[in-house]
Amino acid sequence: MRRLTWKRLLLAVGVIFLWNPLAVPAGYLAGQGINWGQVLPAGDGKGYVETLCTTCHSLGKALLTRRTEDEWLAVIGKMVGEMGAQLSEWEIEKIVSYLGEHWSPPQTGDLASQLQALDEGDGGEVDWAMLLPKDDAKAFVVLYCTSCHGLEIIVRSRKSQDAWYTTVTWMIDEFSAPIPERDIDPIVDYLSLHAGENNPITEVPMDLNLVPSHAFPRLGFLTERDIDRLLSQRSQRKFQSMEELRQELNLDEETIRLSRIYLQVR
Ligand code: HEC
Ligand code: HEC
Repeated sequence: MRRLTWKRLLLAVGVIFLWNPLAVPAGYLAGQGINWGQVLPAGDGKGYVETLCTTCHSLGKALLTRRTEDEWLAVIGKMVGEMGAQLSEWEIEKIVSYLGEHWSPPQTGDLASQLQALDEGDGGEVDWAMLLPKDDAKAFVVLYCTSCHGLEIIVRSRKSQDAWYTTVTWMIDEFSAPIPERDIDPIVDYLSLHAGENNPITEVPMDLNLVPSHAFPRLGFLTERDIDRLLSQRSQRKFQSMEELRQELNLDEETIRLSRIYLQVR
């Protein structure tokens, strides 16, 4: 990278007061089980980030938003100038250069806004990411698989473990999908578990009366209790309407609004 001088750094510290930090989605600061150390690509400087950027806050806080090299310089200038981070010029240079190269606005989609979408659901459109169950490998799928196409094609798939392996390696070999080799297996395992041959979600909205029962826990807005009541009602007789679902489960406005996006009575 360009030689980093204290002058450039001071400039960044100065500029920072005019700079409006990119919004960080509140819900994801806790990390939600994401292993950020694992998500961060290997490279010269990774160790510095993992040790020097985690003394005051989590790695998730630092990495939630991808930035250009200059923006990283500005943020780290703020860490030094305002937050009192003790970093040598050499360490700053290593970190700025590493993050500028490996954690800049993508190729791989804006992770922050994508993760935010996972939490929020949205106003009428299907949130495909919500339909993917939370565990560590979910972050890989959201991070790596959304730069060229949406998640729908993935969420609605039914593929065996071998077929997912073939698909994922096809993405890499044919389209140069930037997926580190070590993350392939966790992704394939995750996809074959949740979008395997038994995947209940092949269409949205799903048929409330016919969709397999293991589809319901994927609807993050339904509580366990909602699901129990829904299944016991459904086992006795079919729902005639979504309104009946609302009444039987005593759903609030927001929950029934979301339910209508994902479920229907045919
Ligand atoms: C001396 C403590 C300290 C160290 C070391 C530190 N930070 Fe921070 N950082 C903070 C504090 C405090 C905040 C919280 C500001 C807030 O949330 O209002 C913060 C917030 C952030 C944010 C959120 C964006 C913002 O401007 O609010 C980013 C990004 C960040 N740090 C990156 C880094 C990186 C990268 C490193 C390693 C080079 C680092 N931090 C090291 C104290 C530190
Ligand atoms: C670099 C771009 C790129 C990335 C990143 C990418 N894909 Fe694709 N994907 C494509 C393209 C292009 C197609 C359409 C290929 C075709 O139909 O010829 C496709 C098609 C697909 C299909 C439909 C075809 C099929 O075999 O069912 C699935 C499923 C899929 N991708 C899954 C994934 C998964 C899972 C990931 C992350 C591990 C991923 N993709 C990442 C470019 C990409």
